[in-house]
Amino acid sequence: MALNTLKTETRGRVAIITLNRPDALNALNSELLGELRETMAKFGDDEKIGAIVLTGSEKAFAAGADIKEMQPLDYVGAYMNDFFEGWSAVANTRKPVIAAVSGYALGGGCELAMMCDIIIASDTAKFGQPEITLGVIPGMGGTQRLTRAIGKAKAMDLCLTGRFMEAEEAERSGLVARVVAADDLMATAIKAAEKIAGFSLPVAMMVKESVNRADEMTLAEGLRFERRLFHSLFATEDQKEGMGAFVEKRKAQFKHR
Ligand code: CAA
Repeated sequence: MALNTLKTETRGRVAIITLNRPDALNALNSELLGELRETMAKFGDDEKIGAIVLTGSEKAFAAGADIKEMQPLDYVGAYMNDFFEGWSAVANTRKPVIAAVSGYALGGGCELAMMCDIIIASDTAKFGQPEITLGVIPGMGGTQRLTRAIGKAKAMDLCLTGRFMEAEEAERSGLVARVVAADDLMATAIKAAEKIAGFSLPVAMMVKESVNRADEMTLAEGLRFERRLFHSLFATEDQKEGMGAFVEKRKAQFKHR
């Protein structure tokens, strides 16, 4: 498939997807969404891939949904097409996804990063939900995922004022897992992805599924869900191998990678 808005490469068991609309600071238009959905699905189905890194350019991870594409929308068109619903397929990718964020991650760009499982930011990263400045509200999950990630006080501050948050504040607030120097961003993200991809893939996928349930379930239901997944792993060869290797003081060789 020829891609106009993305670049992809694989390094061992890690797939790297780079948003590539440099003239528009990687603004997220329909073409990019279509290509990203297809690419995520392709790597999701590829048993040789254990983790995905999603990144942008040095200047912008993504400066938001494409404002020029949205400007002529009317209410009926937006409603009938359930505009932005297509992004849930990206959020529902079952394999672990790391967002490597440099520069602007604004509006839909911040929301896309939050659809990923781990955000690793360069010290140049700026996060924000400036939709209010355009006369709209976040529409790709910003009011929901940002509030869960950093709490009401800061989510309100960002969504109501439209201000940008630097990487250091984003890490302090819990949005970002790690901040690194810009030059180290990709190496750090790929190393983390390689580490994840070296473990049992079904186990990594269950970790993702279970952590994500924390946002959706009561504590009692979430604990039961986690425990049932935990029980199921005792039916796998990878549990036998992982615990066996520990006891025998050797490195585990997981089968389901
Ligand atoms: N949509 C479409 N085009 C965009 C864009 C966007 N979100 N962000 C930047 N661009 C385009 C600019 O129009 C410009 O194109 P031209 O050269 O053709 O004029 C090009 O990218 C470079 O941008 P700037 O000249 O503005 O670059 P800058 O360095 O001066 O400013 C910026 C950078 C502060 C990020 C500024 O581009 C900006 O404010 N962008 C919009 C940010 C924004 O409001 N994002 C939210 C969008 S709405 C949304 O995402 C809804 C949702 O909930 C999903």
